[in-house]
Amino acid sequence: MITFEKKTRLFHLRGKNYSYLMYVNQAGFLQTLHYGGIAESDGEFFAAQGAPFAPDASNWNFDMSFSEMPSEYAFFAHGDFREPTAIVSREDGGVASRFRYVSHKIYRGVPEVSGMPHARSGGETLEITLKDDFSPAEIKLNYTAFEDSDVLVRNAEILNTGDRPFMLKRAFSFCTELPDGKFSLMRLHGTWGAERSPDVKPLGYGTVRLQSMRGTSSHQMNPFMGLLRANCTEDEGECYGFQLVYSGSFALTAEVSPIGRLRLQGGVNDMNFGWKLEAGERFVSPQTVLCYSADGLGNLSREYADFLRNYVIHPDYAFRRRPVVVNHWEATEFNYDNEKLFEIIDAAKGLGIDTFVMDDGWFGARDTDFAGLGDWYVNEKKLKGGLKAVIDRCKKNGLKFGLWFEPEMVNEDSDLYRAHPDWAIHQDGVALCRARNQLVLDFTRKEVVDHIYEMMSKVLKENDIGYVKWDMNRHITENFSAALPPDRQGELMHRFTLGVYDLADRLTRAFPEILFEGCASGGGRFDSGMLYYFPQIWTSDDTDAYERAKIQWGTSICYPLSSMSCHVSVCPNLQTHRTIPFATRGAVASLGAFGYELNLAEMSAEERELTKKQTADYLKTDELILKGDLYRICSPFTDDWFCEMVVSKDKKNAYLVCERLRGVPLYLPQTVRLKGLDPEKKYFIEETKLTASGRTLMNHGIAIPYLTEYESMILHLREIK
Ligand code: DGJ
Repeated sequence: MITFEKKTRLFHLRGKNYSYLMYVNQAGFLQTLHYGGIAESDGEFFAAQGAPFAPDASNWNFDMSFSEMPSEYAFFAHGDFREPTAIVSREDGGVASRFRYVSHKIYRGVPEVSGMPHARSGGETLEITLKDDFSPAEIKLNYTAFEDSDVLVRNAEILNTGDRPFMLKRAFSFCTELPDGKFSLMRLHGTWGAERSPDVKPLGYGTVRLQSMRGTSSHQMNPFMGLLRANCTEDEGECYGFQLVYSGSFALTAEVSPIGRLRLQGGVNDMNFGWKLEAGERFVSPQTVLCYSADGLGNLSREYADFLRNYVIHPDYAFRRRPVVVNHWEATEFNYDNEKLFEIIDAAKGLGIDTFVMDDGWFGARDTDFAGLGDWYVNEKKLKGGLKAVIDRCKKNGLKFGLWFEPEMVNEDSDLYRAHPDWAIHQDGVALCRARNQLVLDFTRKEVVDHIYEMMSKVLKENDIGYVKWDMNRHITENFSAALPPDRQGELMHRFTLGVYDLADRLTRAFPEILFEGCASGGGRFDSGMLYYFPQIWTSDDTDAYERAKIQWGTSICYPLSSMSCHVSVCPNLQTHRTIPFATRGAVASLGAFGYELNLAEMSAEERELTKKQTADYLKTDELILKGDLYRICSPFTDDWFCEMVVSKDKKNAYLVCERLRGVPLYLPQTVRLKGLDPEKKYFIEETKLTASGRTLMNHGIAIPYLTEYESMILHLREIK
């Protein structure tokens, strides 16, 4: 619900459990008043208290007013010395700005955002227009609140209302302020094979900046920032989340002012950013999903999961059963031919697997990672009879077929590069920086995106394909486009991301029956921007069930379980050389979109039996994974256990996974208290055949049998009357 109180010019946005209050002060500045637990539209009360730092219109001394004035869109070079939200650089080089309220409107639904991922529907939107006193920049702030959710979606649009161009040197999506900075800041940092590891440190004075400058949201820092009060745990205490619906270079900042106030901002990374706005042009910033929880981090995660499933992920897929796939990459890498693939495909029969995914190596001259990227036509020398032969073999075994692409990339040893060397991002005279022997295509250019679209759609049209894995294996360097004029080179990173969205949008619209999976050297582009197009993402190249427990835990902080592709792979694990029982690998992988990443033909008879059990079990739990609520119980970062459970919305079913992470010398009975059940219901535990009330299971707990290191336990609970 969104209301406006005319007398005090106060806006009140209400979600399920939060209030967001702001007002237009007497000098016309839009100020944050309150963001947190429910409050009332007590405009007179706020006014009588002097509201925070209302400057006197007749005396705009910055030391008295602007330097600590809370702002919903902070201006630059005019007395607010904290980080600005936007920098508008005029033709004469002047950069001072002062944004003031002009008008607003409130309507049902979400704002229109074209060319970028966004909340698709629902909610109520407040649109506030501000105007810069010193330039022709007009700023539209969009706020969408949802009655059934604790998220608030924000972005900003900047319009050039003048007749001369100006340059945006920063154009963040949002700014908000809290009265104190007494929080710990959570970031999800990492690297290849170890993505989204939660790191929590107290905030101090000054600015903390989380960012990616890599052209993707990155393994290294996820576009998410959490703020946790000192007493915040999984289940109690206040916390906030700020999540960008964006897949490119981003920045999120938290700045504690000299008097201890906290300003939070973020959007497209402004490092070497410069966006030229001609007269009449508009810059639209990516959406940010703010979330408030008074009931701990677990509740914040469930709010994010619900929001992404209900409003961001494509409705045709958000709650649709995901296929159990087998991918041959770890089994063969590039070394395969029909025979090797047929062995794996034939071995899938009877195991409960739905889809075979052919990974890297099927196209062009792709026998190693030195060649072939960009040539999206089948290598018939390697695959006799082309894709059809493999697809027919899949069909014979009752499997659907999936195919790997890496659309944004090119090898110098490729027909595409030989024909269009200037299509790769490069700058004449600057040494090329390669990664995995490949270059990045210049997706700021429409002709490049069009060409890749044509090649890919030909393959997808001509073959019976049910699944596409879209990979992206290097970051952007040299930051230069041969097609952009000098004064627009600062647009490269964002335009590249828009090019990726354009291709993803066109392909997913043209082939609605194909399930697209995102991937970027594992989970290097795991963000809600990608989830708008691809309902699931390969979580990490690290499939070791010890490491995966950590990666999946961290990822679940702000993404739903159903968005994480999780596969059982061989042991010793190819990345960590650790050996973990097959059953445990299955248990951990069952907490996501499930599958296998190994040579099925080399499995032992015992492993085949376990596979049948795992896929059958998965049919029992996939509804929970798709639609249920996650409760994190024992953290792989701090406990000897990894333990998570998923509970259906109606509380009738639950699924618990426990993995012993560190062995101990003695058997000391362990009890784990369950969460999220209905205290009034009675539950039957399938594996132990025991029955107990939700109240007992949550207040007392269940005993975990003795498990040695890396052994696991799964429990299925259902209500009995
Ligand atoms: C990186 C991905 O994460 C892997 O799963 C695999 O697809 C390889 N790329 C193939 O090159």
